[in-house]
Amino acid sequence: HTADLIDRFGRVARDLRVSITSACSLRCTYCMPAEGLPVIPSRDLLSADEIGRLVGIAVHDLGVREVRFTGGEPLTRPDLVDLIRASSDIAPGIPLAMTTNGIGLDRKAAALAEAGLTRINVSLDTIDREHFAAVTRRDRLPAVLRGLDAARAAGLGPIKINAVALRETLADAGDLLAWALDHDVRLRFIEQMPLDADETWRRENLVSAQELLDELGRRFTLTPAGRDDPSAPAEDWFVDGGPATVGIIASVTRSFCEACDRTRLTAEGTVRSCLFGDDETDLRALLRGGATDAEIAERWRGAMWNKQAGHGIDADDFIRPVRSMGAIGG
Ligand code: GTP
Ligand code: 5AD
Ligand code: SF4
Repeated sequence: HTADLIDRFGRVARDLRVSITSACSLRCTYCMPAEGLPVIPSRDLLSADEIGRLVGIAVHDLGVREVRFTGGEPLTRPDLVDLIRASSDIAPGIPLAMTTNGIGLDRKAAALAEAGLTRINVSLDTIDREHFAAVTRRDRLPAVLRGLDAARAAGLGPIKINAVALRETLADAGDLLAWALDHDVRLRFIEQMPLDADETWRRENLVSAQELLDELGRRFTLTPAGRDDPSAPAEDWFVDGGPATVGIIASVTRSFCEACDRTRLTAEGTVRSCLFGDDETDLRALLRGGATDAEIAERWRGAMWNKQAGHGIDADDFIRPVRSMGAIGG
């Protein structure tokens, strides 16, 4: 390829996250408003072919080495299988991952694997059905568990589980870990970030990584296992001597912005250089205006050059991004 996506601080983006919709089958309180996000008119969404083209540019011209599809909920997009296929056709050998709530995976897992999807992370905060319904505002835990079984059967793996650490489900953390060990999935807890549409996040209410480790420590012995690689968001801990591990993504109390290797595309085709950066660069207009791959790549490089140093959640002048989590995709 010609030149990487570097920023003023010397970071290089190798990991592309593509949000493909803001629609979702759940309404998690730390992400979505009860009524859901406004529907994006379909002409404003990147099409499957447009997504494939941008994935190709990212991989062939910009040095991207892994692509993840997010939402909203990716499975709500009727052409999900097509856009995965378009991406794997143009970038064979590049890992294609998806972050999903699992609902509907029971019907789609096999087709997704066949189209080239390699692995999935499933969001699941608790295995207590009532608590799940309270957090997600939907009583759909059985559907998520069916989706997980189908994903495993389709060979989508290794499967990771993402659990946002919440006050309401803190006491369930040990049960969730026991369940994950039992089902051979890799569990990661995530500190909640101020990206909820309802804007109820308060720093003083945060369930910190430390508090979560203390809770798990009541039932398991945890010893440090480091990070998968320096830019991996999760720090791992061996459970009861290993080899099984549990991960903690301490985005707030131990931010990893200085090692960030992400570039993001929104469902409307803008580049977001940081989860928290509202300054977006439109690629859709270029795509639809007949620009060449080289022109699109150059605009993308310019967008990443200006990436901010970090999220600054603990700074006095922190302001939340305009987009909430469901419109960025994590
Ligand atoms: P893996 O490649 O499997 O490690 O996936 P991932 O952890 O990069 O992605 P996933 O979609 O599973 O995200 C897990 C959590 O990490 C979510 O809460 C994301 O919002 C958070 N996360 C992912 N990328 C970033 C990032 O660049 N910055 C911050 N602060 N959080 C991130
Ligand atoms: N803070 C941290 N993680 C979040 N997620 C959704 N909202 C938040 C938040 N406010 C997680 C989801 C999903 C991943 C993409 O981000 O649970 O697993
Ligand atoms: Fe990267 Fe921004 Fe996330 Fe920090 S907050 S890790 S800079 S995307």
